[in-house]
Amino acid sequence: MNFIRVNTYEELSTRASAIICGQVAIKPNCVLGLATGSSPLGAYAKIIEKNKASEVDFSNVKSINLDEYVGLDGDHDQSYRYFMNNNLFKHINIDISNTYVPNGCASDIDAECRAYDELIASLGGIDLQLLGIGYDGHIGFNEPDTYFEKATHKVTLDDSTIEANSRFFATRDDVPKTAITMGMGGIMSAKKVLLIANGKGKRDIIERAFFGPITPEVPASILQLHPDLTVIYSEN
Ligand code: F6R
Repeated sequence: MNFIRVNTYEELSTRASAIICGQVAIKPNCVLGLATGSSPLGAYAKIIEKNKASEVDFSNVKSINLDEYVGLDGDHDQSYRYFMNNNLFKHINIDISNTYVPNGCASDIDAECRAYDELIASLGGIDLQLLGIGYDGHIGFNEPDTYFEKATHKVTLDDSTIEANSRFFATRDDVPKTAITMGMGGIMSAKKVLLIANGKGKRDIIERAFFGPITPEVPASILQLHPDLTVIYSEN
């Protein structure tokens, strides 16, 4: 594991965007696994700048996102499809038809989950997976459990996750209670993994996930077994 401590969110975002753009430079037709949430926003802004300055070309890149709320369609302003379109895809030269987010409104959610794993396989797997981490150690929406779930699946969100994400919704009750998430199999089979986290509030979970025992009660701890893991943490 390459564990990098930096002093500011700005530095974290600069480093993360450099790693992602480096991946695109060495393999222009790579598959990027992408995340939503607050953590990647700074990196996405920097990627947009670099793309506008023609320093990085996304025309042959494919992307596959980690997760989506069940019941929100892509036009809903809290859906993860909407987030990705508005915080990244619309502003770079990626072909939107090469961007994938689970369909939270699929009529058959189990079939959607199976199809998502088939999609990952058909793309040849993920070259670089970007992750944030939840306060309870979740990655994607893989919540603490008694075992690591391998396949893409439907999850019931933990109360702490609903609470954390309620900041984006009008009321806590508006936060969907279930979501589709890529499983640990998809994440762990990525060739490289980059996890970013910032804030004093994440310090405890970072210590438990990367310097404590590997346990499904701290889902991110499985990443200690990944052969090419970079973690960037800024306390500020
Ligand atoms: C988002 C995702 C989540 C977030 C995590 C941290 O696609 O998969 O695991 O990465 O909840 O969220 P932030 O970055 O908002 O602290």
